[in-house]
Amino acid sequence: MTLNEEISKRRTFAIISHPDAGKTTLTEKLLLYGGAIHLAGSIKSRKAQRHAVSDWMEIEKQRGISVTSSVLQFDYAGCRINILDTPGHQDFSEDTYRTLMAVDSAVMVLDAAKGVEAQTKKLFKVCRERRIPIFTFINKLDRYGKIPLDLLDEVEKVLGIRAYPMNFPIGTDGKYLGVYDRQKNQIELFAEDTSHGQTERISEIFAPDDAEVIKRIGQANFDALQDDLMLLDEAGEKFDIDKINAGDLTPTFFGSAMTNFGVKNFLEEYLRLAPPPAPRLSDDGIIEPADEKFSAFVFKIQANMNPAHRDRLAFIRICSVKFQRNMEVWHAATNKIVKLSQPQQFLAQERQIIEEAFPGDIVGLFDTGIFGIGDTLTDAAHKFKFEAFPIFPPEKFARVQAKDTMKRKQFSKGIEQLTQEGAIQLFYPVGAGTDSYIVGTVGTLQFEVLQYRLKSEYNVDVILTMLPFEVARWLRLEDDKKITPATLRGADRGMFVLDRKENPVLLVENEWSLGWISDNNPNLIMNAVPF
Ligand code: G4P
Repeated sequence: MTLNEEISKRRTFAIISHPDAGKTTLTEKLLLYGGAIHLAGSIKSRKAQRHAVSDWMEIEKQRGISVTSSVLQFDYAGCRINILDTPGHQDFSEDTYRTLMAVDSAVMVLDAAKGVEAQTKKLFKVCRERRIPIFTFINKLDRYGKIPLDLLDEVEKVLGIRAYPMNFPIGTDGKYLGVYDRQKNQIELFAEDTSHGQTERISEIFAPDDAEVIKRIGQANFDALQDDLMLLDEAGEKFDIDKINAGDLTPTFFGSAMTNFGVKNFLEEYLRLAPPPAPRLSDDGIIEPADEKFSAFVFKIQANMNPAHRDRLAFIRICSVKFQRNMEVWHAATNKIVKLSQPQQFLAQERQIIEEAFPGDIVGLFDTGIFGIGDTLTDAAHKFKFEAFPIFPPEKFARVQAKDTMKRKQFSKGIEQLTQEGAIQLFYPVGAGTDSYIVGTVGTLQFEVLQYRLKSEYNVDVILTMLPFEVARWLRLEDDKKITPATLRGADRGMFVLDRKENPVLLVENEWSLGWISDNNPNLIMNAVPF
């Protein structure tokens, strides 16, 4: 197969949703159709004894699964599919944002009864900023849901993206009997599911004018469908692949992941419409997947996946040309040549060493500690850097110290590791000893992750004291003079700390305090991320 053929058959995406909308179920059904698993339930079984706090920790408890859940790869209908996991917990982590940097499109799952929920909005925003195509799957059509036209309207109003329904539910008052497929001009009705969604299911398909349809759905439902379709044709958005590719129009599918209804059709249409690996912006212009030289970037680092060996994996996304085991590449961050040995890929439940990979693929590399999030790897004959990852300002802060002061060394090591992984941001209180740190995160869940990982991986119990601050500002004076708590008016209205590079940062409770500090320190420049 030529390089171009390898590239064009790849689809790399993430599924974004609010918890419980059905992301896990849909992922599992996609794997089922892809033949990567044989019976649905093998992924979900881990949720049976779901930890009250998050999926993530439950997954973490079973390290093997944490690897495979980071990325799943399978083949379907001539395509090579890479699904990247975005943790679906209530809280938010930077990991989720970063994963979205490595995909070419996203699938947004909504619960038909709930519509657009809070977490979906946040994740959608990140996808929108990257202008990647977004496909919508409105799930749980097998049970009561909102009126379909209202759901489409909600997507447009709340998210600000136009929706093009690829199919449309049949039924009234939220009780659905099937869908009309607008692309294939056919009607699909729910067939009885005797396997409770564990196996593939064929829905019953009819021509739109088949007399059997009216018999099955009733005249009132048939008439309501005709009215809705007419409305969509006249007043709805027109199908436009350019708008889809620009992230301005979302092809929308109604279905039910649990009962498999509409899943196969969704997968096939998604693969037909979704883009193959896209070009990426670098400081040397646009890098095309079929460029002459190899390139990739690190988007995720995860340590201690195997508790028996203190290993650390750096996940890279291949951006251009063929990746080969043991290849030597230039590492932009250290300006060194590194050898990429023991590359791993993940197929459903197994990880395996691979010999080669192509643009769009995700490869896990053993990392001795040199890689950082966002690092670029290129062929030594064409050195450049990809665009930097956006930095997400921390919004939650806590003071963290080891319960047992004798364990200070392991404690520091663990904190250092988690900082390098990008799980937390580290600050030092000014004037205090080294027995405590101030940790900043994007969401409160990371504190639980921090406690859990320090205990399980470094055997350190910590005392965690939440701080009342919600805003961090990096500080600088117009004349570049040094800022200290003594020279900053109102420093005691918040907490004056230093970041890892000893830059001054002020943590405050709210924007009002910021305003006061800004008004009373005329030469002060404040920034939400490091200068
Ligand atoms: P998530 O990953 O987005 O958090 O959602 P998940 O797939 O775990 O689904 C959340 C709940 O919704 C699960 O029920 C799941 O069975 C159910 N669900 C998913 N798709 C559908 C669907 O198409 N129709 C209906 N009616 N339900 C659906 P649960 O009771 O929390 O878990 P479980 O006991 O089924 O495992």
